[in-house]
Amino acid sequence: MGKIILTGDRPTGKLHLGHYVGSLKRRVELQNSGEYDKIFIMIADAQALTDNADNPEKVRQNIIEVALDYMSCGLDPAKSTLFIQSQVPQLYELTAYYMNLVTVSRLQRNPTVKSEIQMRNFEASIPVGFFTYPISQASDITAFQATTVPVGEDQMPMLEQTREIVHKFNSVYGETLTMPNILLPDNQACMRLPGTDGKAKMSKSLGNCIYLSDEPEEVRKKIMSMYTDPNHIRVQDPGSIEGNTVFQYLDAFSRPEHFERYLPDYANLDELKAHYQRGGLGDVKVKKFLNNVLQEELEPIRARRKELQKDIPAIYDILNKGCETAREAAAKTLHDVRAAMKINYFEDAALIAEQAEKYGKE
Ligand code: TRP
Repeated sequence: MGKIILTGDRPTGKLHLGHYVGSLKRRVELQNSGEYDKIFIMIADAQALTDNADNPEKVRQNIIEVALDYMSCGLDPAKSTLFIQSQVPQLYELTAYYMNLVTVSRLQRNPTVKSEIQMRNFEASIPVGFFTYPISQASDITAFQATTVPVGEDQMPMLEQTREIVHKFNSVYGETLTMPNILLPDNQACMRLPGTDGKAKMSKSLGNCIYLSDEPEEVRKKIMSMYTDPNHIRVQDPGSIEGNTVFQYLDAFSRPEHFERYLPDYANLDELKAHYQRGGLGDVKVKKFLNNVLQEELEPIRARRKELQKDIPAIYDILNKGCETAREAAAKTLHDVRAAMKINYFEDAALIAEQAEKYGKE
């Protein structure tokens, strides 16, 4: 059967560093590892519409942004199928069948849905489509018989729910769907990159993101105004690295060779942290180092994006072809699903013969 990856993002904005460390960078490594037989990367526009129903223009505009971000990070359409969720109708059909296997109370217990309902002030009036998006996410994953779903830890409850649906489907209708596994980022610091303001998560609405397509000067400005330790006032004061955004970013991005290049007084991050905690190391110096580290990481991404932007119709073309490939793969699964659910009447010669015989006897 092989190893198959399915993952994706909602096109509600350009992708930022949180997406990058949480999932994007890993996807590119997985893609280039050659260990996977098929890789599907989905732009989840239909899911984006579940809480942006009144703003289709936003979703539409961001398709190309996400595609450009994907490809500038190194996702390669020759190796990975990049496609758009809404163009694969099989996903909706699958969702409709899965809905019979999930209870309302189970959806209400999904922690991601719970917190998103709060975040969006949906308490009093949750759109049904939004409420059921975990089911549709299970369709996304299973339609491609994905074995591996590389995502950030915020998606853990979604994977749990998907696995339950797979288990239920297979036990009711017979072994049909592949049980997927979540693949979390391997570096702890990458599990959740905070916003530049120190808040738990990068989020467009909080305005605390560094975007992959930000110009160098924007990146620098955002870093220089980053949240650190509010009690670290004078350089000689001891500073705290816990909850210190700059150090959390360094945990995620810095490598020993960065010290060699930009801060040779220190061999590694541990030494830098120790000095900060002891006192005598100013925020500005640490921020300048982080700026060097991030600029080095972002420069090739930005350069590739500029190249890709020169031929936008080609990007749409790639997506269009990806949708075709995705439809073919999903259609195969739907065929098996329909057979398992016994709704493949016209293919079922035994059924037709049985009915004919039943009536032939009279
Ligand atoms: N929920 C994901 C996000 O918000 C997007 C997504 C939709 C997804 N379907 C998926 C991710 C299936 C992994 C697998 O970014």
